[in-house]
Amino acid sequence: MTSPVRTELHEDVLVIISDNPPVNALSAAVRQGLQAGIREGAENDAVKAIVVRCDGRTFHAGADITEFGKPPQQPGLPELLDELEKVAKPTIAAIHGTALGGGLEVTLACNYRIAVPSAKLGVPEVKLGLLPGAGGTQRLPRIVGVEQALQMAVFGNPVSAGAAEKSGLVDKVVEGDLADAAIAFAREVASKDDHPVSSTRNDMLPNLAEADRILEEFKQKNGRKIRGFDAPAANMRCIRAAVELPYEEGVKIEREEFMKLMTGDQSKAQRHLFFAERQAAKIDDVPADTPLIDIQKVGIIGAGTMGGGIAMNFLSAGIPVTTVEMRQEALERGRGVVGKNYQGNVKGGRMTEAQAKGAMDLWTGTLDYADLADCDLVIEAVFENMDVKKEVFQKLDQHVKQGAILASNTSYLDIDEIAAATGRPEFVVGTHFFSPANIMKLLEVVRGEKTSKSVLATVMKLAKKIGKVAVVAGVCDGFIGNRMLKPRQVEANKLIMEGAKPWDIDRVFVEFGFPMGPFQMSDLAGLDIGWHRDENRVETLRDELCAKGRWGQKTGKGFYDYDENRRGSPSDEVEAMIAKWAEKEGKEQRHISDEEIRERCLYTMVNEGARILEEGMAQRASDIDVVWIYGYGWPRYTGGPMMWADLTGLDKIVAGLEKHAAEMPEWPMSSLLKEKAASGGTFN
Ligand code: 3HC
Ligand code: NAI
Repeated sequence: MTSPVRTELHEDVLVIISDNPPVNALSAAVRQGLQAGIREGAENDAVKAIVVRCDGRTFHAGADITEFGKPPQQPGLPELLDELEKVAKPTIAAIHGTALGGGLEVTLACNYRIAVPSAKLGVPEVKLGLLPGAGGTQRLPRIVGVEQALQMAVFGNPVSAGAAEKSGLVDKVVEGDLADAAIAFAREVASKDDHPVSSTRNDMLPNLAEADRILEEFKQKNGRKIRGFDAPAANMRCIRAAVELPYEEGVKIEREEFMKLMTGDQSKAQRHLFFAERQAAKIDDVPADTPLIDIQKVGIIGAGTMGGGIAMNFLSAGIPVTTVEMRQEALERGRGVVGKNYQGNVKGGRMTEAQAKGAMDLWTGTLDYADLADCDLVIEAVFENMDVKKEVFQKLDQHVKQGAILASNTSYLDIDEIAAATGRPEFVVGTHFFSPANIMKLLEVVRGEKTSKSVLATVMKLAKKIGKVAVVAGVCDGFIGNRMLKPRQVEANKLIMEGAKPWDIDRVFVEFGFPMGPFQMSDLAGLDIGWHRDENRVETLRDELCAKGRWGQKTGKGFYDYDENRRGSPSDEVEAMIAKWAEKEGKEQRHISDEEIRERCLYTMVNEGARILEEGMAQRASDIDVVWIYGYGWPRYTGGPMMWADLTGLDKIVAGLEKHAAEMPEWPMSSLLKEKAASGGTFN
């Protein structure tokens, strides 16, 4: 087999070039090729300097994740990089694309780093539940200091070449041809007597007391963002070790911590999500070469909560949007909200004033459907009512050119019924965005019975362009996400009638890793959503809460009482109300364990997920995981509901469901779940 790594001798400079598409991952073959190249350069007396670079779209984007969990192959990356660093000739990494993880670690083992202006550098291992495990936690702080190393390793976000040059991570940003610039740079440094060696540098390291102060401050500031994850703390411990210990000792700690993470459930779950997210973009029966529809202009119906947010996605990506409303005031209001959101982005430094203005300039409002005639895609985001939606789609069918995609943002309604209101059901699809639509990453793409492959392929591609993670769902009530939300909500409501307190249920969810529990969520969203608004008609607990003005955070009280900082505390009034309703319904209030809360609220979701799979409403279990991670704040480190079930043990899930079967007749056991549990199988 030919090696993915070759060398070129340019007089006195040896260039080692990797070409391992698509992202130059550091597979065993690449590591072997690099080792051979390094040795060739070290042993050839004619060579005065060595350049390491890549062909293709990027520098090494990291270790080969597909090799994780398999028997290790030689040479290991840590040993290889130690060998690279020991070469007694100057070594230069020439970076384009993304130097990530093990890829960045390759550059850290070189004496010098140069990069093109568009390059990005980072250590994203933490996102896979890991840490830079090839000396990166020890070399990085020695080059950029502890604060910057913490920022990069604990959050895993890359920095630009320009920022890297400022922090000393890159020695020079070069314009023009990188290959030529690297050789020129190599000759420039070859004549120097000394070359910086990352592992022996100490000039950027503070003393231990100062490092501890920085670490403490960092933890104080960021504790909430990393709650529940193991890897951030392990990264911090390793960076501290870089300050406290010589390199040779520090890397031992790094290795220990790395192996602990690698063999743990969290990294398994997070690596699963990495591939799940990429897999989700693929539709089994839609080939990669399916013709796409060119999307130059988008129409949106409705400038409400969702219509405005959806519009922002396209405006920000430079795609013009025309929004249709029923009344001028609604248009003005919608435009105002979008404008305010963009101003927020400018204030937060996420956009320049010019970019915000550019986006707003691409937006047109109208009351006339005829203005949508030349749109390539129209997304409907009007009230959640079948008759209203059908009427809108009939109008779209009349006004919008043939060949355009007609999409609905419905949360629950039947896409096939909506499609049947048009004469072109093959062009109708569901695009279910999540609120706030300009921020939430998930897009559920609902595949109607007649939706064409071309329409599906186009929407999946477009989703990536606007920064969404798209998952395909079949037509069923609530699709994947909202359908699974139902058992959780129903059981939570039943549990409070049986004696669990709303705050106990919320606590169990927060301890599990959700940002908030179902009752905190209801208070945030507003209990009055969907309420009939008749204060004299009190038929349920929710009616009573609404009738008493307990609409949630917006009225200062809901399930909780809120102070002026919107901090909630348990409400005696609500507790008494629940007790009264329980008595009315003949429910005896008893002590309910945290375990029962998990079993009835979370295991039932897994069961519903299994039924979704069984019915073919999701293509694969990992798609369901992606929906819940990106749409509902399910904790990443568990891998999503189906992966979490796998790691928990499906037999345990089944036993938990069977225990409460009598109280939960609404959720019949999925036969797929039962079968898998019996045979020792898993979903993923
Ligand atoms: N190993 C194996 N495969 C990888 C990979 C990796 N490190 N990175 C990407 N791929 C694969 C993807 O799975 C995808 O495969 P597919 O086409 O079969 O679905 C293909 O490469 C293209 O990837 P993307 O679709 O993500 O391409 P983009 O252009 O959108 O993004 C990227 C490119 C920014 C490099 C992105 O792929 C990425 O972030 N990759 C992961 C980077 C990473 O986490 N590196 C650290 C690895 S861990 C490590 O290095 C440990 C070390 O410290 C010891
Ligand atoms: P909204 O009430 O905020 O906005 C609806 C807008 O549509 C209003 O401004 C209204 O004037 C306009 N409208 C109604 N009929 C129209 C017509 N015939 N022509 C033009 N404009 C019309 O509603 P929201 O929350 O934005 O919901 C819209 C859709 O998105 C619904 O189907 C909902 O189920 C779905 N959705 C809502 C989410 C949310 O969290 N609010 C999340 C995901 C989906």
